[in-house]
Amino acid sequence: MPGTEHDHDDPKRFTQEECFNVVWNHRLLFSTNTLETDNHVLADAIRGGDGDSSQHGMIAVIDAGVANTNPGLVSALEDYVKAHRVSLPELRSVHITPGGELAKNDPKVVEEILTLINEHRICRRSTVLVIGGGAVLDSAGYASAIAHRGVRMVRMPTTVLSQADSGVGVKNGINRFGKKNFTGTFTPPNAVVCDTELLKTLDQSEWITGFSEVVKIALLRDAGLFEGMEADAARIRGRDLSTAMRYITESARLHLEHITRGGDPFELDEARPLDYGHWSAHKLEQMTDFELRHGDAVSIGIALDSLYAGMIGVESEDSVGRTIALLEDLGLPIHHPAMRDGKNLLEGLQEFREHLGGKLTITLVTEPGSSIEVNEIDTKTMMRAIEELSSRT
Ligand SMILES: NC(=O)c1ccc[n+]([C@@H]2O[C@H](COP(=O)([O-])OP(=O)(O)OC[C@H]3O[C@@H](n4cnc5c(N)ncnc54)[C@H](O)[C@@H]3O)[C@@H](O)[C@H]2O)c1
Ligand SMILES: [Zn+2]
Repeated sequence: MPGTEHDHDDPKRFTQEECFNVVWNHRLLFSTNTLETDNHVLADAIRGGDGDSSQHGMIAVIDAGVANTNPGLVSALEDYVKAHRVSLPELRSVHITPGGELAKNDPKVVEEILTLINEHRICRRSTVLVIGGGAVLDSAGYASAIAHRGVRMVRMPTTVLSQADSGVGVKNGINRFGKKNFTGTFTPPNAVVCDTELLKTLDQSEWITGFSEVVKIALLRDAGLFEGMEADAARIRGRDLSTAMRYITESARLHLEHITRGGDPFELDEARPLDYGHWSAHKLEQMTDFELRHGDAVSIGIALDSLYAGMIGVESEDSVGRTIALLEDLGLPIHHPAMRDGKNLLEGLQEFREHLGGKLTITLVTEPGSSIEVNEIDTKTMMRAIEELSSRT
């Protein structure tokens, strides 16, 4: 409890405890054609409301997957910064970095960004603009968070998953010792700018994979959103952009709301509802040497925990059936050959507990829109769920 305690018998003993808050402003902006010079969204986001960042420098880190499929992107960014030079910091360097999980598995990626931050004298009021998928946002976000104990960072997520979920979050990190997100920090970005147009160059499997996180948040928070996805699954799969954006923006909004109003932005509690389906997802990613996409692994993880919850009577048969049907209708996987090593997969429970700290806390959905936390998993039943899912064709 805050306050001061004196030991009257021993004046050398003294305890003081204080409590303090740090206020963060979390800005999420969706727009289209953000690099057209008459669009001010990105310029406003970079400038921010926190002082004189425009007087300082900026470097851009761009996911190679985005740069390669959008050949005009770098020059469009340079032109944009020139056109807004009165309000924007000077763009000192543009760095293209490998996309995908390699960005989190190869420690050189973070080292290179730290080197650039040093060489281009990026100070705590200067900005690192990161354009890319969740993996590049995580690794460049980590480099930005540890350089000078935190330089300004503006994210431009370019995948469905990162616009709907990860880009909005306050976490960053890289994989170490073969474990997901072993090294990282909780550091909110200064702003998140999502450009719908950038999603057009994703290939089909990268497009659909991110919707597993949308299914996740709908199952946890919003039965109506889940029903909408059931009705619109074919349109989402068929890349009807205006339909899909309704779900992506709603997912982003729900994630933002959870972080900013849920009372536990830096995940100090044992319960981590946003990690529904993730204990097995993270383990499967590791078991497949990260060849399995995070979004696909989450889809399998949701199917598995739903089947398990049905088996122990926590989730109704109808809800389990609808969940698995929606994942399949979207074209998402519900099993993977690596699951045949069920014993190894179950070790993911312990690793998940270690990563979170405290006692094992797993979120299970009871029906779309509501969930509970459990502190025990019956491993025999979970093994049965693993075997049943693996045997599906
Ligand atoms: N920090 C968090 O809170 C959080 C939450 C969820 C997931 N994640 C992490 O996010 C990562 C997955 O991110 P992801 O699903 O965005 O995929 P990704 O970052 O792994 O990217 C997948 C591929 O798409 C390419 N790509 C990205 N944008 C593109 C575009 N617009 N056009 C063409 N190609 C493009 C990339 O180069 C890469 O090859 C995982 O590492 C996961 O752990 C982090
Ligand atoms: Zn996830």
